[in-house]
Amino acid sequence: MNDRKILITGCAGFIGSNLADRLCRKGYSVVGVDNLSYGLASQIPSAVDFHKVDIRDPAIRPLFNGVDTVFHLAAKNCIADCQKDPVETASINVEGTVNVFEAAQRSGVRKVVYAESSAIYEGSTRLPTPETEEAPQSFYALSKQAAHLFALGYARFHGLRLSGLRYFCVYGPRQDYRRSIPPVMSAFIIRLLRGESPVIYGTGDKRRDFIHVDDINDFHELCIDSPLTDGKVFNLGSGTNYSVREIYEHVAALLDSHVPLTFLPDLPGEAQETLADISRAQQVGWSPKMTLDDGLRTMIDFIRKNVADS
Ligand SMILES: NC(=O)c1ccc[n+]([C@@H]2O[C@H](COP(=O)([O-])OP(=O)(O)OC[C@H]3O[C@@H](n4cnc5c(N)ncnc54)[C@H](O)[C@@H]3O)[C@@H](O)[C@H]2O)c1
Repeated sequence: MNDRKILITGCAGFIGSNLADRLCRKGYSVVGVDNLSYGLASQIPSAVDFHKVDIRDPAIRPLFNGVDTVFHLAAKNCIADCQKDPVETASINVEGTVNVFEAAQRSGVRKVVYAESSAIYEGSTRLPTPETEEAPQSFYALSKQAAHLFALGYARFHGLRLSGLRYFCVYGPRQDYRRSIPPVMSAFIIRLLRGESPVIYGTGDKRRDFIHVDDINDFHELCIDSPLTDGKVFNLGSGTNYSVREIYEHVAALLDSHVPLTFLPDLPGEAQETLADISRAQQVGWSPKMTLDDGLRTMIDFIRKNVADS
């Protein structure tokens, strides 16, 4: 049993529920916050002390009493939705984040780990991309940058110990498969399991740095224990990338299913390539371990059990 209490915002979502699973298994006492605007209550482990509340609500503050580490993951995070509604994007991702920082500092929380995004690099062409290369363009990326600036303020004026995590394309069980255009791996697996033609937008040559949620959780655990992670932002990617077409080939080989692809017009505004410079995260003792095929197998198992026939 671990006597430290951890609070996770966004605990019903993809990354938050995987983190809650990991920390409950390790014996931490976990408090969960989510307004269930997008996440699923069924994904929250039963051991979590769950509170259905909005991160913008001052009522979250008492929940932070006695908490050792906060993982702030709740966000409005579909780039297209954020473009349509910059006001709500700022309200959740900036105002909500500041409310979390405020609650943490008032309660004397020891450490706050919060989600930024590789979208902060979307205006840069430097590859692999280091943490210094900030060039946000979309309202989503701007909201993450604004949260980062407030984190610097809370460190400066309140001595809050923070780590900002710039996730690249995170994949694994429970990856968001319910969007109208799901992330590419979920989309391919679901279509192929149903014997339907997978869709590629554009030529399939765009390359993405994919990182498995188990590797992300290794870094989350490091953030709880290692002071080397304090006061810094970190890229969390695999340091390699694959084209969309290569991902299709891996999924098709693992499922032994070769339904011909459907090509539709390219989606506007997407980067041609993402690739993380992960040297800063490696310097504090982390490295990604999951191979692409093993990672895809974890998703295939999950989708077979939970999604494919629904
Ligand atoms: N998944 C990725 O590849 C990725 C990449 C870069 C950054 N991120 C960031 O990581 C974090 C977690 O992402 P995810 O993929 O797990 O997203 P997700 O959408 O699966 O989970 C987010 C959770 O936040 C909750 N939420 C939204 N608004 C809320 C509010 N106002 N109050 C309380 N709860 C609220 C949702 O209900 C959902 O359960 C987000 O901050 C996201 O921007 C994710």
